[in-house]
Amino acid sequence: MRTETTLPEPDVSTAVLDQRSAAKLDALYERLTSERKVSIGYPCNQQFDYAPLYRFMEFAVNNLGDPFSGSNFRMNTHDFEREVIMTFARLTGIRGEDCWGYVTNGGTEGNMYGLYLARELYPDGIVYFSEDTHYSVSKILRLQHTRNIMIRSDHTGEMDYRDLEESIRIHRDVPPIVFANVGTTMTGAIDRLDRIREVLERQCTPNAYIHVDAAFSGMILPFVDDPPPWHFGAGADSISISGHKMIGSPLPCGVAMVRKTHMERISRSVEYVGALDTTISGSRNAITPLMLWYALRLHGDDGFRELVGESLRKAAYVEKALKEIGVGAWRNPDSVIVVFPRPAASILDKWILASSGDISHLIALPGVSWDTLDEFIDDMQRETGTAA
Ligand SMILES: Cc1ncc(COP(=O)(O)O)c(C=O)c1O
Repeated sequence: MRTETTLPEPDVSTAVLDQRSAAKLDALYERLTSERKVSIGYPCNQQFDYAPLYRFMEFAVNNLGDPFSGSNFRMNTHDFEREVIMTFARLTGIRGEDCWGYVTNGGTEGNMYGLYLARELYPDGIVYFSEDTHYSVSKILRLQHTRNIMIRSDHTGEMDYRDLEESIRIHRDVPPIVFANVGTTMTGAIDRLDRIREVLERQCTPNAYIHVDAAFSGMILPFVDDPPPWHFGAGADSISISGHKMIGSPLPCGVAMVRKTHMERISRSVEYVGALDTTISGSRNAITPLMLWYALRLHGDDGFRELVGESLRKAAYVEKALKEIGVGAWRNPDSVIVVFPRPAASILDKWILASSGDISHLIALPGVSWDTLDEFIDDMQRETGTAA
């Protein structure tokens, strides 16, 4: 019961930040605005407008539980999430009824999910992954205590299938779990599923699992002509794709896509939330499924084909221009990542590029303008001292 001494509830609608805090936010806004212009090394598309979704920020929404099983907590966006998964099913070569998935926090969680399923199906399995695999994968394998073997890559970043075959041959008594990169982080190289399956068939390993890390290229390959075999149609058991990379989103996100029969082996029901506990996190973001849904609807396949085509044209342009000024730039097929020798410190001071060892790269994302690319090429030209 309310008494006279009860404190009044704070009126959050009229509360304002003190001046110092407000200024700190303004400074952050300015910094991010200027850094966005030179951020060309990481696969985060900065070109999007989710303003029509801002009104949903007033709700405490949460997508906990399996998006396909329903939950007691009805303040969710599960129906949008299901539509997102069904769209990705179409893009990754699997019938909706054969597939299950959910919206993740990003590519890492999708990889963790695929490797978790694989380990549940084949507890003694060994994971084979190439040396060009994203750094987070060895951490996932450590977390899961899964046996694993690193496989050599060739100079383009693609898995060395002979090394894969030799390693599987030596361990033929345990099921192989092959972690395939469909677009490596540094060079965008693609581990071909047809070559991996040939290896598995030659080594007579019927109990095998293929997980595909398509963090970035999973939203490129559906929109190019004649992509290499990379998805469920080519034998993948699970696929991880990031949402904030090619599609673009202010909040990290992605999708974990799996063959439904695999997921059914691990699902269990939890009474408290009235949902199937099939996802890794309990509480899950309900806004990112809306963003993905919105972007997929807004652009449609034709829009994404256009965006991907333009990115590939920009990548080809930079590669050619850098070669013309004497920089040894190169690209893998169907990749918007332009690789070149690590440039001088002055270039790395100004531009946000990604570097590893003696190489660096830029990524010709839809939001990177032709003018920005020209400015970068000019800077590189000044640095190398070569006339264009
Ligand atoms: C090939 C690859 N896999 C996984 C990841 C991790 O994805 P996320 O940052 O969305 O967790 C990345 C990130 O760049 C990546 O390039």
